[in-house]
Formats: sequence, C-alpha cells, structure tokens
Amino acid sequence: MTMILPTPTGSSSTGTAPVRLAVRGLRKVFADDPSPALEMLRHGATKAEVLQRLNVNVGVAEASFDIRAGEIFVIMGLSGSGKSTIVRLLNRLIEPSEGEIRLDGRDLTGLSYSALVEVLRRDMSMVFQSFALLPNRTALENAAFGLEVAGVKRGERRRAALTALERVGLADYADRYPNELSGGMQQRVGLARALAKNPTIMLMDEAFSALDPLIRSDMQGELLRLQREDARTIVFISHDAEEAMRIADRIAVMEDGRIAQIGTPAEILRAPADEYVRAFFRGVDASRVLRARDIARPPDDGLPQPGLEPVAADTPIHALLGRVAAAPGPLPVVEADGRLIGVISRAVLLEALDRGEGAGREVRHV
Ligand SMILES: Nc1ncnc2c1ncn2[C@@H]1O[C@H](COP(=O)(O)OP(=O)(O)OP(=O)(O)O)[C@@H](O)[C@H]1O
Ligand SMILES: [Mg+2]
Repeated sequence: MTMILPTPTGSSSTGTAPVRLAVRGLRKVFADDPSPALEMLRHGATKAEVLQRLNVNVGVAEASFDIRAGEIFVIMGLSGSGKSTIVRLLNRLIEPSEGEIRLDGRDLTGLSYSALVEVLRRDMSMVFQSFALLPNRTALENAAFGLEVAGVKRGERRRAALTALERVGLADYADRYPNELSGGMQQRVGLARALAKNPTIMLMDEAFSALDPLIRSDMQGELLRLQREDARTIVFISHDAEEAMRIADRIAVMEDGRIAQIGTPAEILRAPADEYVRAFFRGVDASRVLRARDIARPPDDGLPQPGLEPVAADTPIHALLGRVAAAPGPLPVVEADGRLIGVISRAVLLEALDRGEGAGREVRHV
C-alpha cells in the first residue's frame, strides 16, 4: 500500500540556491504572558491542549524551515493551521513569541524598528486575498500606492506603477477605477502594486483564492511567467492542492500550528508523511505533477543512445507517452541549461504512470 515511485530524485531546481529566509524554532502564542503556553509547546503539547488548559490561542506551535532564493515556497494547511500567522511573522506584522527569523543571514528579530522597516521596505511586498484597492483611486494610483507609502517621488512611482500594470496586462486600464474592473483585474492591480516595489521577496496570502477557477488558473500562469523573468523569492499561501502542485517548487504542509511535511510536489505525492498530508493531495493526478526529471534514470551503459531528441526536464510525464512510445530507445532528459540528467525508457514511464494513477485510486479509497 505504498505510493513510492521508481526514482527518489525530484529535488527542486532551486535546491542549491542560497537560503534567503531561515526560520528556526518559531512559535507564536496569543497571550499577554506567553511563558506557560510556550513551556507546554516545548514539551510537545498540541494547540488544543494549550487552549484547553490555559485558554490561550496558539498561532504557530513550532516551525523551522529554509526558503531559498528564487523559489516559490507554498504553505498549505487547513483553516486555522497557522499559515497567515507565519506570513505575518515573516514580515513582522506581528512579533514572534519565540524563535529566529533570518533574512540573508541577518536576524530580523534583533533589528531595531527603523532598521526593520528599511529592510522590509526594500525587500518584501505582500499580496492579500481581498484586493484591498482604494476605491477612489485609479488602477495606476493603486498600483503606485506601495511606493507612495515608501516615499518615492510622484513621477518615479507612476513610471514604476505603469510598468507593473503593463506586466500584468492592464496598461490600457491605468485610468480606470476599481469598480470598473472585474475581480480578476482587481487582483492583477494588487499584484502590480506588489511588483511596482520590485521586491526580492513576495508574500502572497491566498492571493488567488477569491477568483473563479478560470481566472485563477490564468493568474497562476501569469505568476509563473513573471517568475521565469524575475526569479523572486515567493512565499505563497494556498489551501488548494492543485494550485500548490502547479506553482510550488516546494510545499510546506501545516497541521495544527506545526509543519507536517516539507518537500517538492513530487516528493510529497510520492511519500506523504501522514494521513493528513495524504488526504490533502487526494485526487491530484500524479501524471500531471511528476516531471521528466522526477522519473529520469541513469542510462544503462552510462550514455544515452545518440541522435535522439532530448526531453525538457520540466515536461509533465503525461505529455511524454507519445514520444517515448515512438522512440527507438530511452529518451535523454536535459535541464534548461543543457545538462543531461538521465533517460526515460518506455518501461519506466509506464510504471510511473501506472503507479501514479494507482496511488491516486488507492488514496481515494482510504
Ligand atoms: N490576533 C489573534 N489573536 C488570537 N488568536 C489568533 C490571532 N490570529 C490568529 N489567531 C489564531 O491562530 C491560529 C492560526 O490562525 P491563522 O490565521 O494563521 O490560520 P490560517 O492557517 O491562515 O487559516 P485560514 O486558512 O482560515 O486563513 C488560529 O487558531 C487563530 O484563531
Ligand atoms: Mg489565513
């Protein structure tokens, strides 16, 4: 009853990039005196136990993780599991009760308020679920708002805002007011507002959750496209498994204020840490999540057969069937930089497709 797929590869393409955000032993309890609750949590108490014994709400029971430069790090979990609290702790909208947050090696928890504001202003932007646009300002003025708050001069911020609107496909709507825009367009203005600051880190809390499925899917594509150009570090909160699987380099699954599992989409699909994680990804089609790189294996004799057109490592495996079936031998798999990472034979592909589907069926019966 396992769903282990053939090769235990699947490290993300950003796996060797430098760590931008390092979080260690982070805890947040909502109490005037956090000590008794922290003491319970250190001994492994659950949120429910702390609430019951002390009547104290736990936002984050314990979290430690690294977020690397250029990755889209998705935080998932049920309502109340602590996702928004983590994001608010990252940009210091709220203070941690315990633990350490380092940005590029620098401990944010130790910074003075003014130094902190400077760092956050330069490095981070936040996109929320509710568009939070100002109704009496145009799309352009809304997109420029973050820069206005940051004290950037009018001409400069309008230029940056217009560029950002162009990038999200809304240049023609710069002079429109929010009530003249659809929900999806408003969300794009929200995204443009974040982009206009040209942040190196974007925090997106359920940023696409209020959109209907087609527009939501468009926005995910938009984010991936922008990310290919910019390679920002993105922390994206979602409770949608399909969304997480599509956009994430890595996913952290939160359960009751703790991290149940961190891994690439392929790693999590292949080996969910527990029933909670498994249940989250129930029904996700593995053949659309697993990429060529996830199932590529070293060629038998050390080199692939010459003359075969290589497969891009990013290709979802469901799209490989025709090519692999028609090829005279295993197809070489290459990363974008041309590096050969292995080959995919007919047998390996069929096994992966079969096990992927099998695992999906199996999970649904749990
Ligand atoms: N300001 C606060 N005061 C007291 N408790 C809070 C506060 N903010 C959050 N909490 C509690 O912390 C826990 C985590 O909340 P959080 O908003 O981080 O959840 P979430 O995972 O973002 O949920 P959702 O998916 O519903 O947005 C919840 O139990 C919540 O009640
Ligand atoms: Mg939330």
